[in-house]
Amino acid sequence: MTQEFIFPKEFLWGAATSAHQVEGNNINSECWLLEHLPETIYAEPSGDACDHYHRYPEDIALLAELGFNSYRFSIEWARIEPEEGEFSYAELEHYRRMLATCHAHNIKPMVTFHHFTTPRWLMRRGGWLDEKTPEYFARYCKRATEHLGDLISAACTFNEPNLAMILSKLLPFKIQEGPFWNIAAQAFDVSPDRLGLFQLVAEPRMRDIILDAHRRAFEVLHAGPGDFPVGLTLALIDVQAAEGGENKALEYRREMSDIYLEQVRKDDFIGVQTYSRMLVGPNGAVSPGKHVEKNQTGEEFYPKAIGGTIRLAAEIAGIPIIVTENGLASTDDTQRVRYFQRALHSVVEAMGDGIDVRGYYCWSAFDNFEWVSGYTPKFGIITVDRETQRRTPKPSAYWLGKIAQANRYY
Ligand code: BGC
Repeated sequence: MTQEFIFPKEFLWGAATSAHQVEGNNINSECWLLEHLPETIYAEPSGDACDHYHRYPEDIALLAELGFNSYRFSIEWARIEPEEGEFSYAELEHYRRMLATCHAHNIKPMVTFHHFTTPRWLMRRGGWLDEKTPEYFARYCKRATEHLGDLISAACTFNEPNLAMILSKLLPFKIQEGPFWNIAAQAFDVSPDRLGLFQLVAEPRMRDIILDAHRRAFEVLHAGPGDFPVGLTLALIDVQAAEGGENKALEYRREMSDIYLEQVRKDDFIGVQTYSRMLVGPNGAVSPGKHVEKNQTGEEFYPKAIGGTIRLAAEIAGIPIIVTENGLASTDDTQRVRYFQRALHSVVEAMGDGIDVRGYYCWSAFDNFEWVSGYTPKFGIITVDRETQRRTPKPSAYWLGKIAQANRYY
């Protein structure tokens, strides 16, 4: 555990966020509307979030001061194209200023073009279940890249297009069967079977539409301006077989990960995002037992999962890897430091075995809006006071920042 490891010179060290989770008041997104429905499944609305929309200059300066050399954030389609075909020059300029601020602090910006949220107008057309959506997505990517590309250091088209597939295996109920689904469909004026919510529909036809959108966006982003690597990120759980679950585990892994990994072999990198493992028995996911250490949301504390998923990604996709998210929900920051310590150890082991890992981003820079769970789960290395918006780095921020600055694991 104590062996020293020196990372390659260009290794990316960063923290990650997504627009809806930190910016605040993302009112033209489908998510804002869902948060305010009478039967909403969201614990609370996102509101001002971390007001990162206005406070990004101090936030980026803080990340640089802590020792990071990169920042992964998303640009918001619902702001850039709030109505079909109406592009906002002002919002594109906003993101241009954000990118320029990164460069002013020697921070390499990694930009995600879609991190779960989608403009409301697109949901009224069936969202990620509509055949025309890849065309719309590519058009938005083109417009954004034309405006921002020269300042982008790396880009992810999509964040976790496989999340819905994972949730379908983990949740003990079908979200489409509850009252929320019909009310949400009504709100977007579509029939329930055309409610194309990115995070929640686990259907192969949605997967195909998103992968088609990814391929088109890949071309558009490479057309420049700028010359930066392009990939997508996947939620990769370390799937392990419990007794008698060998076949089921392989089946789960195939549907949740392998199918996607096989589709990105021509990309410039794959973003690996891992939090824990899944134990699979003959009939599906099983609990790791009462006595294992847990995180704040009841998931098993299993930091070395990242080593397993890096190896899987390397084996199936065979392209460079960037850990685009890794972290822990915890109110106990010493638990988070222990998590990073062990997780990084397994990253280092994988690299020692010759796997090409080019960066590590923790989730998340800030305590932020954790989707349906609201503000309760604390993933941040920086606390945000919900009243005053005051930022305070936690010990984990200094710990990770120091490793980043030294570019050395010890
Ligand atoms: C997502 C983030 C989320 C995090 C923690 C990832 O699935 O990309 O948006 O907050 O996990 O749950």
